[in-house]
This record gives sequence, C-alpha cells and structure tokens, in this order.
Amino acid sequence: MEKLIVTGGASLTGTINVSGSKNSSLPILAATLLTEDQCVIRRVPDVSDTNYMLQILSQLGAEVERASGNVVVTAKEVSHETPYDIVRKMRASVCMMGPLVARLGRANVSLPGGCVIGDRPIDLHLRALKELGAEVEVKGGYVIIRVPHGLQGKEINLRGKFGSTVLGTDNLMMAATLSKGTTIIEGAAAEPEVVDLADFLNKMGAKVSGAGTRRVEVEGVGELHGAEHTVIPDRIEAGTFLVAAAMAAGSNLRVHRLRADHLTAVIDTLRACGHEIEVSGESTTVRRTESPRGTRIRTGPFPEFPTDMQAQMTALFVVSDGISTVVDTVFPERFMHVPELQRMGAVIERQGNTAIVEGGQPLTGAPVMASDLRASAALVLAALRAEGETQINRLYHIDRGYEHIDEKLISAGAVMRRERV
Ligand code: EPZ
Repeated sequence: MEKLIVTGGASLTGTINVSGSKNSSLPILAATLLTEDQCVIRRVPDVSDTNYMLQILSQLGAEVERASGNVVVTAKEVSHETPYDIVRKMRASVCMMGPLVARLGRANVSLPGGCVIGDRPIDLHLRALKELGAEVEVKGGYVIIRVPHGLQGKEINLRGKFGSTVLGTDNLMMAATLSKGTTIIEGAAAEPEVVDLADFLNKMGAKVSGAGTRRVEVEGVGELHGAEHTVIPDRIEAGTFLVAAAMAAGSNLRVHRLRADHLTAVIDTLRACGHEIEVSGESTTVRRTESPRGTRIRTGPFPEFPTDMQAQMTALFVVSDGISTVVDTVFPERFMHVPELQRMGAVIERQGNTAIVEGGQPLTGAPVMASDLRASAALVLAALRAEGETQINRLYHIDRGYEHIDEKLISAGAVMRRERV
C-alpha cells in the first residue's frame, strides 16, 4: 500500500502532458475481441484499470503485448467466460459482454461489484442485448448470455432514469456490428469516448453512424478485421489538471495534448469563476485569478458538466469566494470526497444529490482517505492548496485512472512524495 505526502502552497507552472483516455481505452480494448486479426491501440495509459483489462483479454485467450503506450491484441481464439477474480475489481469489464456475444454467441460475465460512487446497475445493458435476441440469465454472480438464433438488429431505446449510459451504448454498438440487419440506438450516450469507440469499430470495417449524437445507427456486417487506432486524450485527467492550476496560488499552467472541445463545460465553469483560460490548439493554459468566485454546477450526460469532474470542482469551490452548489444528477451519491474535504477545513453541506459549499475557507493539511478515483483526485487538489502537509492514504484508488499523477504535478512545481505504508 502507498500514500502520498503533499506539502501545500506551491504554484503550478510550465507544461503538463495529458495521457491517452482510460475511459476510451477500456471499451476499445474490449472491441479487439470482435476480430481474430491483430489490433494495435496507441496511447493506452499505464493505469491499473487498463492493466486489468489486458489481464482479462489474456485470460480469455487473446495474445496481448504492451510496449510503453502501445498495445497489440490478437484475439484469435477466445473463451466466453471472463475471470471473476479480475472482473470483480473493475466494473468497466461489463463492456466485454457486447463483443463476446457478437463474436461467440455467448458470454459469462461476472456481475460488477459494488461501487463507492453509488448504485451501478446494468439493467439497460441487459435489456438492450435481449432486444437483439439474446437470452440473459443472472446466476451465481454471473450474467449468462446465450444467443441461440443469432443477433437481429432493431430500434432500441437505451434511455434510463438517470439519462444515457456510456458503457451500455458501447456494449450495444459493439454487439450490433455483427448482428443481422440494422440497429438504431435511441437515447445513446454522446460522450467523446463513445465516438472514439465508433471510430475504431469503423476502422475494423463496421458501419456505425451518428456516434456523438443521441441516435446511433449500426448496419450489421459479416465480420470485422484488425485495425490500428490512437485513443483520444483523457479529458478527465486534463480537466483535473486545469482545476489544479486554478487551485494553486500564482499558477500559470499549460496543459498539453488535450481536446478543448471535449472540455467545454469545465472550461466555461473555470471562466465563470474568474480564471483566465487560453485555448490554443491542443494546449490550454490556466492563469489562476487572485479573486476566484464560486458558481453552480449540475452534472449530466455529455456535453453537460461531467460527473467525473464534480469532486475536483467541489474542491476548487472550497477555496473560492461565495456560496457554490454542486448537483450530481448522474450519480446522486457521489460525495465521498465531502467528509474528507471537511477534515481539511471545508464547509460543505450535503443535501441529497446536492452539495452546498461555503467558499473562502482556509484548508489545512490532514491525513485523509482516498475512496473512488475522482474523489481521491479532489483530495490531491485540495492538498496542493492546504496549509502544511496532507497524507492521502490508499493511493491505489488514484492509480486506477491517473497515469503518474504525482510525477506530472511535481514536474510543474508541486511538492509531494509517495511513501510505502
Ligand atoms: C462511464 O461509466 C464511465 N466509466 C464513468 O467514469 C462515468 O462516471 C460514467 O460513464 C458517466 O459519465 C467508463 O467509461 C469506464 P453510465 P458507466 O452507464 O458507463 C445509470 C471514472 O471515474 N445506469 O453512463 O458505467 C447509472 O447508475 C468512471 O472514470 C442505469 O441505471 O456509467 C448512472 O446513474 C466512474 N442502468 C447513469 O446511468 C444501466 O444499465 C450513467 O451511468 C447503466 C447505467
């Protein structure tokens, strides 16, 4: 086990480079199961979630090689049963269902374990696969899927009570690529990572159109071939660094290799708080304002404010003037960061899916506990600003989704070190 010791007060300057997207890499790696040909995926971040995915592919029988950020997968022969011991560690492994069912006509995938950010059902995934003709049974902690008569495309409404589903859209898109006929996905997720997956599928010979809108059309084809693809920059990692610069006094930080069009809600919010944001090609520079204001954010499906950035922005509101409100309509329970920020001096009141932040509070360093990936990132940001030393325990939560976050922040001037516990 490791912890991060952060000494607050440093400014962030210079340049931080953004890695490839974790949430784009995971479904794209799963999509390599759709062909027996070799696939090359570039800029796959070296984080534990992608490493879990590579272990699952390997245990399913695929040949997997990783050389720095490039991954080569050849799924010539694959099993239909995913290994419980790895799958239970990573909910995103549910996106194996679509490709396995499309390729093999069956799949046994472990039900995802619980999650600290709230209930993570997969009812929409299963309903969609059933609509394509799959028979689905939940037994012994596994989802057992059989397709006795092949998959048949149709119009499917994927909307849930919390809006669209990202991995649900991914699963359905992947299953539909090898279905007979055409599938229309109504209420599809429009996140950039869904578009990236569609781009990769089309490079494999699929016929996906409309990705990035609420209505995606997939014309089934007989088979898919190998392809090469470079995943998009990680917009949440990039957004986390933009907020870090807005947190740390005197910062002037250039975040490089990002897609500003994937971060409009975050950039607009930072500007509303008074920070100077300059977008230039694949670089965005943040100059922190000396009198940051709070504001109101409400998360929602892309392009609305991303739930994955809500904890980080909450940390910024703590050290900004005025009252801010944070409403998470996607994961109403996603406030694990609040009690930890309160230990550092934050004044935040939780009311259901809303957090009300009384800003302008001085933060003081304290031992805190990482929990979900983004809540943990919020604690790192708060520690950058806090007076004195903060210890962030259970660092593995952060290493799930951020590639060398401490090394990147240290290179921009942050004072922190990892220690074995
Ligand atoms: C993806 O998770 C991301 N993970 C999450 O990022 C992100 O928070 C989430 O999308 C929302 O943007 C990956 O891409 C690997 P959803 P996903 O299905 O697809 C409900 C991170 O920090 N729902 O879009 O699992 C669900 O409960 C992670 O990187 C159903 O009700 O999320 C939620 O309220 C955390 N039934 C809402 O929909 C279903 O069958 C959106 O969830 C599926 C989802």
